[in-house]
Amino acid sequence: MVEKLAELKVDYAGVKFRNPTVLVSGVLGTDAATLKMVAKRGAGAVTMKSIGPEERAGHNNPTIVATEHFMHNAVGLPTPGYKNLGDKWEALKGRDFPLIASVFARSVEEHAVVAEEVASHKPDLIEINLSCPNVKGLGHAFGTDPEVAGKIVEGVKKVSGKVPVIAKLTPNTHRLVEVGKACEEAGADGLVAINTLGGMMINIDARRPVLHNKFGGVSGPAIKPVAVKSIYQLYANCKIPILGMGGIINGEDAIELMMAGASAVGIGTAVHYRGIEVFELVIKEMNDWMDKNNVKKVSELVGAAHE
Ligand SMILES: Cc1cc2nc3c(=O)[nH]c(=O)nc-3n(C[C@H](O)[C@H](O)[C@H](O)COP(=O)(O)O)c2cc1C
Repeated sequence: MVEKLAELKVDYAGVKFRNPTVLVSGVLGTDAATLKMVAKRGAGAVTMKSIGPEERAGHNNPTIVATEHFMHNAVGLPTPGYKNLGDKWEALKGRDFPLIASVFARSVEEHAVVAEEVASHKPDLIEINLSCPNVKGLGHAFGTDPEVAGKIVEGVKKVSGKVPVIAKLTPNTHRLVEVGKACEEAGADGLVAINTLGGMMINIDARRPVLHNKFGGVSGPAIKPVAVKSIYQLYANCKIPILGMGGIINGEDAIELMMAGASAVGIGTAVHYRGIEVFELVIKEMNDWMDKNNVKKVSELVGAAHE
């Protein structure tokens, strides 16, 4: 047992996690065996790769590149589509860990269609990935427009039944707090911040972009200060709980995001740097820091950096 029971338990949007670490969406897919293994290896909750409206192959290779300080990806949201998840839901029934199902779509209305089907399989939470482009609008992500983001949340809440709905925000906007507040007003049960930051890399020898898609999302250690600021501002302006993520590598990073205001913390790119044991390691490191600093409950850390 890696965690000291009781001290590390958290409540996020009405769902109990045995510890605050969460596998983020996208880095380990939707395969039931993999998700179960991540939970077995310590994660307090796991998130499925975002599920979209129809089958999508994603972008051509190269789609992911990792450096010492960050990862840059443009996988392009590959998905089998919400109708084609096969026996995955069946294989996840009877699980002993909270499951977060992430959804995305191409219009306000389509989000509700995908979410309704997903809700029927009773995940513990439905996460709306608001980082996808609004193709009917100006092509900017849904999560850059408070009004549109609010409408999506409202639509999903109408079809989600008892499953709590959380909105995953993009940092690629100056309206992050407005979007968070709009999602809260529309009935979101929690916020998730942050998704990747838009970026680009160029191979100077080839004089060409590194990724086939040219542009991609930056994750990992380099984006942690952006995550901390985003979470800090959301915590100061919204009442619903925040699942914080962006650049967590070790237990001290996780504590920093919690002090900014996160009730639970997502781990993604660090799976690449530290392997699947990252969840156990982060929990142990959090425990060590809490012991050293005489913190009895991890929930005492939430928002501790605010006055
Ligand atoms: C390869 C890769 C794929 C991702 N796919 C998704 C996805 O399908 N849906 C989503 O909401 N976020 C996706 N993300 C973003 C992560 O869930 C997370 O918000 C981001 O990587 C920041 O956390 P990290 O620095 O711990 O990786 C992806 C990230 C990576 C690196």
